Amino acid sequence: MRFVTIVGARPQFIKAAPLCAHLRRRHDEFLVHTGQHYDDNMSKVFFQELAIPEPDRHLGVGSAPHGRQTAAMLEQIEQVLEETEPDAVIVYGDTNSTLAGALAAAKMNVPVAHVEAGLRSFNRNMPEEVNRILSDHVCKWLFATSQTSVDQLAAEGIRNGVHNVGDIMADCVRLFSPKARSSSNVLSRLRLQPGTYAVATVHRAENTDAPERLSGILDGLRKVPYPVIFPMHPRTRAAIRKHGIDFVPDDGTAGADCAKPDRGIVVVEPLGYLDMLLLQQRAAVVLTDSGGVQKEAYYLGVPCVTLREETEWVETVETGWNRLVGSDPEKIVAAVQRLQVPPPGERPMLYGDGHAAERIVDLLERGLCENR
Ligand code: UD1
Ligand code: UDP
Repeated sequence: MRFVTIVGARPQFIKAAPLCAHLRRRHDEFLVHTGQHYDDNMSKVFFQELAIPEPDRHLGVGSAPHGRQTAAMLEQIEQVLEETEPDAVIVYGDTNSTLAGALAAAKMNVPVAHVEAGLRSFNRNMPEEVNRILSDHVCKWLFATSQTSVDQLAAEGIRNGVHNVGDIMADCVRLFSPKARSSSNVLSRLRLQPGTYAVATVHRAENTDAPERLSGILDGLRKVPYPVIFPMHPRTRAAIRKHGIDFVPDDGTAGADCAKPDRGIVVVEPLGYLDMLLLQQRAAVVLTDSGGVQKEAYYLGVPCVTLREETEWVETVETGWNRLVGSDPEKIVAAVQRLQVPPPGERPMLYGDGHAAERIVDLLERGLCENR
């Protein structure tokens, strides 16, 4: 069978890695990179580290406002689907690349599989929420990460083709953590001791587009009682400049030595996945507005403080491993100070067992065979 897979943004490269590997054992895959993310450290590094095959087509769409970016993808994906005539299309997550892939295929009556279906923040101001809802409603296979997502899809009238396969990012952590431990030198490079620092990532539009929220988060990060290693998304770097926020990070040259708890924030370039995994695994706490990073912190047994008002990953909050604090500096600091040390012991497998990729390939095969 022939599949066209659409990826374009950092988390999609990571999610695609285990599924690509499984799919290609038995089927043809034509990999399309929309070009939504294009810097080497936002794209190329993941293909290299995670042995993802070179894209068969690069659409080179780049950055643009939502409508223009999605439209440019749509037009080109349609052409790819005309040329390749796949049995099915696979999309991941909730970015503009997800929506463009799902919509282009659905309009051509090509069945679409959505990996990470049924997630909701119930905040329609988020571009991701719009992308998820629209994608879910045109897909044939909805691969959910938990029963919560299955129930949500049912509440929206989507019952056919829904499968709780677990989270493909749990596959990624299972598969790549050993390699991260054996090959990443991120701790020695940044001169870090395990358990003595925090890791932060921030990139959501709701935080970066609002100067007061971004300033609040930076202020909170500066005051937490750990040095904060902050691999900064290019969007955030641009936002700090654009809003004229007074932010002078440490350059990291002195090392994030735990003996200097006032060291503040060490900004580094976006990291490769292996460095990022190890950095999180050895951290005292993770602070983030990322979806993927919230889950990884949980899988790696590190407490998480989420810099948002709501989360799609509600189960991580319910188990006590994740706290929602928004952008208020005092709440950020208080959440870190109140961390339970050691953290709550129970860490049930909320999102499957790290074998989502096999299940997805089996279900796709079965579904396509039935239709033949
Ligand atoms: C996108 C997704 C978001 C996802 C995130 C993962 C949408 C609407 N948003 O957000 O859901 O969580 O990816 O990281 O699809 N930029 C660069 N170099 C790059 C990529 C981006 O400089 O390689 C800068 C540009 O200034 C660009 C900005 O980042 O305008 C935002 O990029 P974009 O892809 O539009 O959105 P993200 O914030 O990355
Ligand atoms: N990530 C990475 N390097 C970084 C920051 C994040 O490899 O500098 C990884 C992270 O470990 C996770 C994924 O990128 O696997 C999350 O992507 P991101 O936060 O960009 O998007 P989201 O998950 O919020 O959509």
